[in-house]
Amino acid sequence: MYSQILVPLDGSELAEQVLPYVQQIAQGLKIPLEFLRVIEPVNPEMAGVAYRSGVAPYPATAESAGARSTTPTTGPRGPYLDQIAASQRSHAQDYLDRLTTVARQSGLVVSTSVHEGSPAHHIVEEAQKEPSTLIAMTTHGRSGITRWMLGSVTDKVLHATTNPLLVVRPQDYLGTKGEMKFSSVIVPLDGSDVAEQVLPHVVSLAKALSLKVILVRVTPSAADYYRYMEYSIGPYQDYSQEVDAGAAEYMHGIRQRLQVQKIASVEERLLHGNPAAAIVDLAKEGTDNLVAMTTHGRSGVGRWVLGSVADRVVRHSGAPVLMVRAREALS
Ligand SMILES: Nc1ncnc2c1ncn2[C@@H]1O[C@H](COP(=O)(O)OP(=O)(O)OP(=O)(O)O)[C@@H](O)[C@H]1O
Ligand SMILES: [Mg+2]
Repeated sequence: MYSQILVPLDGSELAEQVLPYVQQIAQGLKIPLEFLRVIEPVNPEMAGVAYRSGVAPYPATAESAGARSTTPTTGPRGPYLDQIAASQRSHAQDYLDRLTTVARQSGLVVSTSVHEGSPAHHIVEEAQKEPSTLIAMTTHGRSGITRWMLGSVTDKVLHATTNPLLVVRPQDYLGTKGEMKFSSVIVPLDGSDVAEQVLPHVVSLAKALSLKVILVRVTPSAADYYRYMEYSIGPYQDYSQEVDAGAAEYMHGIRQRLQVQKIASVEERLLHGNPAAAIVDLAKEGTDNLVAMTTHGRSGVGRWVLGSVADRVVRHSGAPVLMVRAREALS
């Protein structure tokens, strides 16, 4: 299913909290990792401050050696900016090398790359080289945890990538010492072909990582029907039993399909109310859940448009979320 895992790292401990999950998936599927660090282009203003305040070393240019200058004498110049960029690149490479050494001790196969430019752009482009690359990253990095928002890089990658994407919300108390592991995968299904496109991913992960599969269907509650009927013409009618019976039958069918594919443990959960809230609450019941779901694709646009449930789950879920971009709805 996946040929490798691309792990973008910005140098922060929060970003590194994805690593225990990455290790579990890579070991289960026996696939290699690529650690990617993107350094942003040196901002001449910032470089100028470092230069003038003596924080950065004096540049070894012809000018500094006493040659007659034809360029302005204040502020950083080309060779100096290059020097800062080179130092950033070597720091980034040293950082990735340190993480690689640790990962290799666990038997993982790791390669590294350092790019320069926009982090989101490079993450998306690097993953795109191979559609079977899984991207795995945290929702927040260097800027720290904000309650519901996603970090800007994650947000951009989430909307732009066509690769499968694992998003992990880091915990401020965890540091990098967490021994986090999945033991169940929650699969929200709304009965559509689009939602079912996550199933091959679920089968592959459940088999390789011995995960329990929890199928979830969320239907409106009797109270929801009542509220809805208040605004419509005609007598109030409670459709909930009828809808629930159909939803339960649908989940039995999916369960049988999974069992044919040798998934040992499958559970069915029929929940009521707001779909995103119900999924998020279910995921919170344990600390070892992965939520796997598709987003809705839209043709002709180079961006994926998240369905509203997918969008809310990824923003609000404390549990890691695997997002799979859906092909066009078949119907
Ligand atoms: N320069 C980078 N190189 C590689 N990966 C990065 C880089 N910047 C961000 N990422 C990836 O994105 C994840 C989330 O970081 P992001 O930048 O989105 O959040 P933030 O730093 O908390 O917020 P923001 O940058 O929007 O202020 C990181 O854990 C990492 O996986
Ligand atoms: Mg950032």
